[in-house]
Amino acid sequence: MFNKILITIYTISTLFFFNNCKKEEELPDSNPVSKKTEKDSVDKTAKQGSSTKMDKIPAKTAKFIKEFGTISLPDPRKDRGIPLMKALNNRKTSRKFSLQQLPLQIISDLLWAASGINRPEGKMTAPTAANSQEIEIYLAHEKGLFYYQRKDHSLKPVLEKDVRVETGKQKFTDTAPLVLIYVGNYQKMDRPREKTEFYFATDTGFVSQNVYLFCASENLATVVIGWLDKEKLLEAMELDSKKYKVVLTQPVGFPAK
Ligand SMILES: Cc1cc2nc3c(=O)[nH]c(=O)nc-3n(C[C@H](O)[C@H](O)[C@H](O)COP(=O)(O)O)c2cc1C
Repeated sequence: MFNKILITIYTISTLFFFNNCKKEEELPDSNPVSKKTEKDSVDKTAKQGSSTKMDKIPAKTAKFIKEFGTISLPDPRKDRGIPLMKALNNRKTSRKFSLQQLPLQIISDLLWAASGINRPEGKMTAPTAANSQEIEIYLAHEKGLFYYQRKDHSLKPVLEKDVRVETGKQKFTDTAPLVLIYVGNYQKMDRPREKTEFYFATDTGFVSQNVYLFCASENLATVVIGWLDKEKLLEAMELDSKKYKVVLTQPVGFPAK
């Protein structure tokens, strides 16, 4: 009898352990848990500024969006990190990335640090001119292209395409576990083009520095990239150049040993 109780406790705790391990997973292959209908996904994407160049989404892309569903990110761990002065002291550019994937929790923390919402009125960890919130963050991954929906802290699949090869002219961008792509959204800024592009650049700088400091705190490697063919990347992302502009990219990963 006592043995039976022990075996039951062991089985339950083992199951609990593996269940918790699952939460530490990387970006899933598909995401049946929070799967939404194809229509929901497409509508939400359009609203949040990641509409594709084409009016009609090709069947392959629609299938990818449907299979993945929206990925709800775990809550960011706001009680983590080293003191700010130490993070500033450690901030640096690193160009050597391990191929190891980042756990979903780190991706969640990273995106929130970059420009997640940090106040009830919807303002962010990074400032933007007149609170335009015009810098969209895309995540390029071997599994595809994802869009950060900061309002519900989730990742929306956009394209089943690995666009990392277009995120920089240096080899390491092809294989870094993920590359953040900062995209200015003209529709969110009602100003002359020159002024808008000035704010695209300044506002991206704040996001990028947040990422640098987060990486300094978490011992991750990162480098902000301006040396790339921005038009080609936008094209690969199937975004309309009348509505969007790639500003900079930023690979993030564990440092190579
Ligand atoms: C706007 C901008 C664009 C950059 N573009 C690149 C780039 O394309 N490739 C690269 O390896 N480093 C790039 N860097 C990183 C700089 O080379 C780096 O910040 C500089 O050498 C100083 O090193 P530190 O960041 O470690 O202080 C860029 C930095 C900035 C601010």
